[in-house]
Amino acid sequence: MASGSAGSVPLARRVSSLTPSATLAIEAKAKKLKAEGLDVISFGAGEPDFDTPDYIKEAAHDALNRGLTKYTPAQGTLELRKAIAAKLKKDNGLDYSPEEVVVSCGAKHSIYNLIQVLVDEGDEVLIPAPFWLSYPEMVSLAGGKSVFIPTDESTEFKLTPETLRKNLRSQTKLLILNSPSNPTGAVYTEAELRELAKIVREHGLYVISDEIYEKLLYDGRRHFSIASADEAVKKLTITVNGHSKTYAMTGWRIGYIACEKEIAQAVSSLQSHSTSNPTSFAQSGAEAALRLEDAGAIEKIRSLFEKRRDLIYGEVSGIPKLVPFKAQGAFYLFINIEKTGLGSVAFCERLLEQKKVACVPGIAFGSDRHIRLSFATSEANITNGISRLREFVSSL
Ligand SMILES: Cc1ncc(COP(=O)(O)O)c(C=O)c1O
Repeated sequence: MASGSAGSVPLARRVSSLTPSATLAIEAKAKKLKAEGLDVISFGAGEPDFDTPDYIKEAAHDALNRGLTKYTPAQGTLELRKAIAAKLKKDNGLDYSPEEVVVSCGAKHSIYNLIQVLVDEGDEVLIPAPFWLSYPEMVSLAGGKSVFIPTDESTEFKLTPETLRKNLRSQTKLLILNSPSNPTGAVYTEAELRELAKIVREHGLYVISDEIYEKLLYDGRRHFSIASADEAVKKLTITVNGHSKTYAMTGWRIGYIACEKEIAQAVSSLQSHSTSNPTSFAQSGAEAALRLEDAGAIEKIRSLFEKRRDLIYGEVSGIPKLVPFKAQGAFYLFINIEKTGLGSVAFCERLLEQKKVACVPGIAFGSDRHIRLSFATSEANITNGISRLREFVSSL
């Protein structure tokens, strides 16, 4: 009998230890309680709380009306890949041809594909912890081994050149960087990335640079793509981005990579045997999102998130026993709960049960000493929810 599953169906070994996404599970539980009529405030969501802008929706409607309802090239439409190449040039100073770009069904799918084409049985993948929870699952599905490099408040949750060097071995294939970071909100400076880039170049280390939160930066910070450090680093880097966070397009499922043609072709071939292509009219919407991008509207959203960051950080800072990290980007507040004496799962479960406030236990991201609160929610929810959090912590 096959050994993959403890249940009655002999599931493949590779999925036997797979766990469902904790963030999606928390959000589903909060929604269920809300549907039962309970007054739940959720800080679980990893998505903007506003609608996709009209000009993007109109482009998708128009595509449907024009009959763009058929398969597209597996790699994505040429028009969208051209728009992505232009965006990478304009925003990131990166020169890529459309052949070096692949569009997938969300950045999550882009990263999944990349790990499938780059990671072999036994290869080690360096993942600074805390990490976005899907990376290690994707690595183990490919037969690779995640090597977590712990970071904490002392380096603003950032990998240092010393810790990177210490973890390099002959089996090391890949490093995953995520700036701005989910779950910590840390943002690497250009100088920090240039230091890491030196090691990348020296060791021929491949880098997946997940830049999905690139437009959400606070306190005047600027985004830097590690691929733009120099030509050698660009050859080793696969830049990942997508439309979910910047344009509030989570449900459209559009993400993309830019990299060396050989990797792009391998990803495209893999994709041709799984999803074929991302949805045709979603690609038309995504193209409009880039071509007709309204910098003013994006700045409005960024400053709204910055205001919320200030509000939630200020409120949580005033709660004894909680130590929040001031997010430098993205839309998450990462809070150290060590002084409460509770582990992150017990903390979140009791908070939801007693105060009807949903947040994500840090253990899902590799730290049981933290919890994550998304501030992609209204100021009223933030004020009300944090006041419940304060009551909960003082009852401990
Ligand atoms: C760090 C990070 N990378 C990638 C993704 C994937 O985004 P999507 O698949 O919606 O493009 C997310 C979504 O939460 C994320 O937080």
